[in-house]
Amino acid sequence: MKILEVKTTQRQYPMIIGTDVVNNIEDFLKSVSITTNRKLLLITDQQIEKLYGDKVRKLLLNYNLFSYVVSQGENSKSLSQIEKIITYAIENGLDRSSVIIALGGGMIGDLAGFAAAIYMRGIEFVQIPTTILAHDSSIGGKVAVNHSLGKNMIGAFHQPKLVIYDTSFLKTLPIKEVKSGLAELIKHGLIKDKEFVEWLVKYSVELTQLRVDYLNEALYRGSKIKADVVYEDEHELGIRAILNFGHTFGHVIESISNYQYSHGEGVAIGMIYAARIANEMGLISYDLVEQYIALIQKFGLPTTIPTHYQATEMLAIMLRDKKFEQHQIRMVLPTEIGKVEIVKGISKEFLLKVMEDVKG
Ligand SMILES: NC(=O)c1ccc[n+]([C@@H]2O[C@H](COP(=O)([O-])OP(=O)(O)OC[C@H]3O[C@@H](n4cnc5c(N)ncnc54)[C@H](O)[C@@H]3O)[C@@H](O)[C@H]2O)c1
Ligand SMILES: [Zn+2]
Repeated sequence: MKILEVKTTQRQYPMIIGTDVVNNIEDFLKSVSITTNRKLLLITDQQIEKLYGDKVRKLLLNYNLFSYVVSQGENSKSLSQIEKIITYAIENGLDRSSVIIALGGGMIGDLAGFAAAIYMRGIEFVQIPTTILAHDSSIGGKVAVNHSLGKNMIGAFHQPKLVIYDTSFLKTLPIKEVKSGLAELIKHGLIKDKEFVEWLVKYSVELTQLRVDYLNEALYRGSKIKADVVYEDEHELGIRAILNFGHTFGHVIESISNYQYSHGEGVAIGMIYAARIANEMGLISYDLVEQYIALIQKFGLPTTIPTHYQATEMLAIMLRDKKFEQHQIRMVLPTEIGKVEIVKGISKEFLLKVMEDVKG
């Protein structure tokens, strides 16, 4: 078992990472003053409910526990769902001392975290991530739901009180979700830690096979990188933007493919796109671009897009992205393995040309 102490400007919370750690949930809750006299609301999705709902409820028998289950998938991350959760919470007498427990992937973390952020002006919440990708969403305190006009448009900053990351939950993850999460871990290495990248590559097979001893280590190191970056810049005023490496083009791929590409697959292609832009601007050699391609491919992740995607359409989607400052096209570009820079003033011509180059 490893404990990562995540520091925020307001306070510090532990992220407990290990196999079967959830079995000690009552002790962990008590260690952060969540005692059995406080009501709990467990929020999860149908898929996770089927797999792990009863297991987690049995571990919380000493608490007055309520459960709320939503459909799996991004569509549940909505304001109408939040209203239903809040109605349920009021009807069951949850008060300001009650605690929300988010059991699930990033979707549930964002939804349940946002409910906790606004219920009675904010109550405490605990995350129990069940996907690899959720190592990312469990740190940083960003919680949100989607609006029909954009993803994560309604949200808040609300830090969990505790994160219990039990890697035994990961054994049922579909392979597409495994790869999606690994892409985000690779990203954390590529922005800050060359040695971690080398370690990930060395154990790519073990990680893809969900060997928990390797996952525990990988999730600890990836989460620590994110925690360090967020600590430096909790409200995303500067350095935190490097976490968006691969995401500018990644979001375009998710959107244009109608989410046929997972988030991590989009990010994988997006990192290659950024490397190619960096090469086009003379920041890195083509040899280095090929190294990025080889390491992404090692995890069975895509590095190219279908030839029929229209560059002009992709550019239009990219320019609508909220992370672009007006008239100043800004991207996170790699300069060497384990390092990135925020580069401003990238020309539309470069963006379009590299969209053609990244077709395969
Ligand atoms: N707040 C943040 O900082 C942040 C960061 C990254 C992503 N996100 C958000 O996270 C979401 C994506 O997260 P995700 O990839 O975890 O997706 P997800 O939560 O939708 O989970 C993916 C699928 O896997 C299933 N699943 C989850 N755990 C499982 C398990 N252990 N076994 C079997 N199936 C399981 C779910 O039911 C779902 O169908 C997006 O909404 C994204 O916006 C937020
Ligand atoms: Zn991401």
